Amino acid sequence: MRSGTGDKIMSMTNFPANENSSSNGVPITKVTMPALAEMKRQGKPISALTAYDYPTSRLADEAGIDLILVGDSLAMVVLGHENTLAITVDEMLHHTRAVHRAVRRALVVADMPFGSYHGTVAEGLSNAIRFIKEAGAEAVKIEGPRVELVRALTEAEIPVVGHLGLTPQSVHRMGGYRVQARTAETVLALKTDAMALAEAGAGIIVLEGVPREVAAAITAELPIPTIGIGAGPDCDGQILVFHDLVNLTFAAPAKFVRRYADAAGLMRTAIERYREDVERHTFPSDEESYHLPEAVRQALDIPQTPGALRKA
Ligand code: KIV
Repeated sequence: MRSGTGDKIMSMTNFPANENSSSNGVPITKVTMPALAEMKRQGKPISALTAYDYPTSRLADEAGIDLILVGDSLAMVVLGHENTLAITVDEMLHHTRAVHRAVRRALVVADMPFGSYHGTVAEGLSNAIRFIKEAGAEAVKIEGPRVELVRALTEAEIPVVGHLGLTPQSVHRMGGYRVQARTAETVLALKTDAMALAEAGAGIIVLEGVPREVAAAITAELPIPTIGIGAGPDCDGQILVFHDLVNLTFAAPAKFVRRYADAAGLMRTAIERYREDVERHTFPSDEESYHLPEAVRQALDIPQTPGALRKA
């Protein structure tokens, strides 16, 4: 859609007149980190989803998703990289801004990209501040048991989401995307890391690619919510990558992905139909065209187009 292409001003970024109400008039209560902690206490499941742009974030928010993660999976599912390592802070900021513009209710969490917090704590802190200050993120997510950084971010009033288990930024160390914590030793290490992150101030921990039993045990012990992806149903919440959920990827889904729609099929068919219509000259129709006022057409001696003649 374009603004100002005709009599009506059209914009996809308009919100309903009452900014603080949903389209059905229900007041919007902003989701915050403390609100998510309260959901754990009350045993209410937390729904989370990744999103990277205005329309999908807005749809996720309007569908009532509690937490929207601008994940660095964007590198793969939107930008076509082989893994998440190449994406930069500036690219992540660009997408976080778009999500921030779309979301009114969900907590917006920005993923800190590889390299942006792997040096000194001071570097991690200043990069995290950029996500809050320049892009409107309400929390940042970091992978691994970086306890000192979590403490520093918490002291700087930046809510932190930790991420343990299968951490995609460690793909080279892990030797691929493999389920983690399958031995007694690694299960105990994961539990210790989760407790340490919570103690350092993390508000949520994402558990990715770990056995259901491990995620369940950690969820039961931790005072803060866990959000699982490939971690079974016993976490306090679940997250999926948007493009997996709607089938907008070009690879076979992982075992833990449930496809709720076939966006690729829908979009492929729509694009093919459009191409065929262009090739057959059936798009655009006369009704989809703008017309000169009749007097101007006649004054300029411009012939009527066949479509306009048919209409007359
Ligand atoms: O980047 C991402 O999408 C993530 C989720 C899979 C948790 O980190």
